[in-house]
Amino acid sequence: MTKSKDQITQIPNHVAIIMDGNGRWAKKRKLPRIEGHRKGVNNVKKIVRHASDLGIKYLTLFAFSVENWNRPKLEVDALMQLLLRFIKSQTKEMKKNKIRLGVIGRIKELPSKVVKALEKSMDETKHFDHLNLVLALNYGSRTEVLDAVKSFSTAFKNNEESIDDLDWNRFSNYLYTDNIPDPDLIIRTSGEKRISNFLLLQGAYSEYYFTDKYWPDFHEQELSEAIESYKKRERRFGKTGEQVNTN
Ligand code: FPP
Repeated sequence: MTKSKDQITQIPNHVAIIMDGNGRWAKKRKLPRIEGHRKGVNNVKKIVRHASDLGIKYLTLFAFSVENWNRPKLEVDALMQLLLRFIKSQTKEMKKNKIRLGVIGRIKELPSKVVKALEKSMDETKHFDHLNLVLALNYGSRTEVLDAVKSFSTAFKNNEESIDDLDWNRFSNYLYTDNIPDPDLIIRTSGEKRISNFLLLQGAYSEYYFTDKYWPDFHEQELSEAIESYKKRERRFGKTGEQVNTN
């Protein structure tokens, strides 16, 4: 449904991106896959800057899934190396631009050098709130649910929680995304139309945007186009169009 001018939705508060297609970007150019990831990291820097300029408050990037450990060791090692270099080189930039770094996922299972760099960077940027950059690392929605159930059960055993009072609001405190609002817009690059275990619960009412562009080619203009598409949509959260338009 096309909306009248006064109904135009605001810029999304939280944009989450499945950055897919680095490998195919490289293959198309007869380059090793790692080159695609390297280009992908450069693009992360540009998109973070653009998101910050647009006034987006939360940007979550799916950088490494729990399933990505199954890739060849050489590629996993290269991704960890790129990640480490990114955190170390970008912390200064984040501080300059008042960007706070956060993470979601089983972080402790990452190489200890990466864990240390993440913790240092998160600590040094914790007072900023111009943009919250959230890296999904060793992340998967199913492990997130399991971890949440385990934490809740421990709290229950310690008499800090009751079953009768359990509702979604309460349970969501145990997800990695506690204190992070649900994504308004979830983008996936590279032409694949699947969610791949990413923010399955938090994305219950998100708007989705799929583009054929490979991640290294998803530039500032493409992010702006995704946002324009989002702004034209009517979000109903289970209500009727009439209800939404009279409120
Ligand atoms: C998907 O492309 C991309 C990944 C699995 C990793 C994403 C990682 C980066 C962009 C770099 C690291 C990130 C940060 C924040 C420093 P793919 O390899 O699955 O591509 P393909 O499907 O074409 O093979």
